[in-house]
Amino acid sequence: MSTITVVPESDSLVFSPERIQEFQKKVFSFYQKNKRDLPWRKTTDPYKILLSELMLQQTQVNRVILYYEKWIARWPAIDALASASLAEVLQAWMGLGYNTRAINLHKAARKIVTEFDNDVIEAMKQYKEIPGVGRYTSQAVQIFSTNTDLVTVDTNIRRIFIKEFHLPEKVSDKELWGLAERCLPKGRSREWHNALMDYGALHLTATKTGIKPKTQQSRFEGSDRQLRARIIRILLQNDESLVNISRILNVDISWLQRILEKLISEEIISKKNNRYYLKE
Ligand code: ADE
Repeated sequence: MSTITVVPESDSLVFSPERIQEFQKKVFSFYQKNKRDLPWRKTTDPYKILLSELMLQQTQVNRVILYYEKWIARWPAIDALASASLAEVLQAWMGLGYNTRAINLHKAARKIVTEFDNDVIEAMKQYKEIPGVGRYTSQAVQIFSTNTDLVTVDTNIRRIFIKEFHLPEKVSDKELWGLAERCLPKGRSREWHNALMDYGALHLTATKTGIKPKTQQSRFEGSDRQLRARIIRILLQNDESLVNISRILNVDISWLQRILEKLISEEIISKKNNRYYLKE
């Protein structure tokens, strides 16, 4: 009789079931005592969860809460958001920063309404079709709205795994996501990920652990991103000619033209009668 030995792939991080259980207990027990009462934890509506995840991507929880609540009051469902103009959406986003997220969210809402029959979960399963949604967000939305047995790893969760399992900071995504799957308590994905979020945000913070995020946002001052934001801010007030925009911003005209062309190619702005304006 032959025996089959399962040899773990060389890149997989294997820990004993006891070690994993101990980790789960530690995270859940912290959560029991410290859980945060956050508005998106009171809903299972995938549209609202998608909104919260996009807002939380580069903005602190405390700042997101008010924006999230105002947004939901104004556009309570995905079809309402799809019917809004880009200018309205950008105006409501103003102050949260990184307005590409708002542009993508607006595009995503229209696509989900027209091509996915308003079904946000189905769209998340085909996330490569959805602007601004990557694997992290797709899985997070499914986890928090349907409690399905999936995992997701953002920069906070990555930090927890590195610290708790003594991993090198260069650990690959493949290894991390694999370990995350082996740590998932089946049937409790929603609660588990909320617990991980709180453990990472309140206990194993970046400052405390000294573990740096894999990528850091590049400098805003003087960047293309800043010029885009300034152009959008102007066009939210009024349609403008190139001369006027360049006068208001006082920047190199060829740089300005390049960014305007890019905004046109991304269907964020249009040009008519020599004036630039935000798309409907
Ligand atoms: N950061 C990203 N997603 C989050 C969530 N659901 N709760 C708290 N912080 C988060």
